[in-house]
Amino acid sequence: MSGENNDKQEELREGFDEWAHTYDQDVQTSMDSFPFAGYSETLTAVWQQAEAAPGMSVLDLGVGTGNLSKLLVESGCQVLGVDFSSEMLAKTREKLPQLALVQADLTAEEWSPALTRRFERIVSNYLFHEFPFETKLRILSRVARNNLAPNGRIVIGDITFPSAADLNRVRMERPDEWEEEFYWTAEKTREVLETAGWSVAYGQISFCAGVYVFTPPDNLTDLGNVPYLRILP
Ligand SMILES: C[S@@+](CC[C@H](N)C(=O)[O-])C[C@H]1O[C@@H](n2cnc3c(N)ncnc32)[C@H](O)[C@@H]1O
Repeated sequence: MSGENNDKQEELREGFDEWAHTYDQDVQTSMDSFPFAGYSETLTAVWQQAEAAPGMSVLDLGVGTGNLSKLLVESGCQVLGVDFSSEMLAKTREKLPQLALVQADLTAEEWSPALTRRFERIVSNYLFHEFPFETKLRILSRVARNNLAPNGRIVIGDITFPSAADLNRVRMERPDEWEEEFYWTAEKTREVLETAGWSVAYGQISFCAGVYVFTPPDNLTDLGNVPYLRILP
């Protein structure tokens, strides 16, 4: 990673360190507006789609203050939470002292040795909109190849829209709430991943939140090499 990117990641990480202290409260008070409309339902939907069961191994990417991991732990799952913010991790530790946690930047070239094992489920909530589409694909490829157990699945809740038209409509309708980040659209995600042989299921939960269930193919190729990507805007 270049020095410039390192500086940018450091700045982002510091932002999350600060936010950790008010995050849960902020989410609670903005459940009716963008981007947290549907947040609680999204947590539940990820948990349901993961079919969490006692003893199941789960990797929670961007664990934050532990709201998704809490549901999984309550179902008896063995969860490893990853986050680059030490303050977010400290909040999770207060809530779920038994949870295994690792501090790591998911955009880094090198990943922590703690992330060299496989999990029956890989889950995430409200993280991936931080990453440009190509970075999303890189992380998905990486965890599919290195971290997902055979017959496992990846379940991701996030800020996402059915189509670019829906995204633009919400952007126009809510100028005061809107923040420019890297929001998914189900149409583009499906098109690219299905071209690469992945199975993609999608459910819209609120006007701005939804859940993806991804199952990679057995003959996994690097999503960065999908030719279709080159003609995307
Ligand atoms: C909006 S919070 C969501 C937290 C939690 N999953 C939830 O549902 O409330 C995003 C989390 O992802 C973490 N994060 C953002 N970028 C990251 C990166 N590059 N590597 C690891 N964690 C990251 C942040 O520190 C933060 O805790």
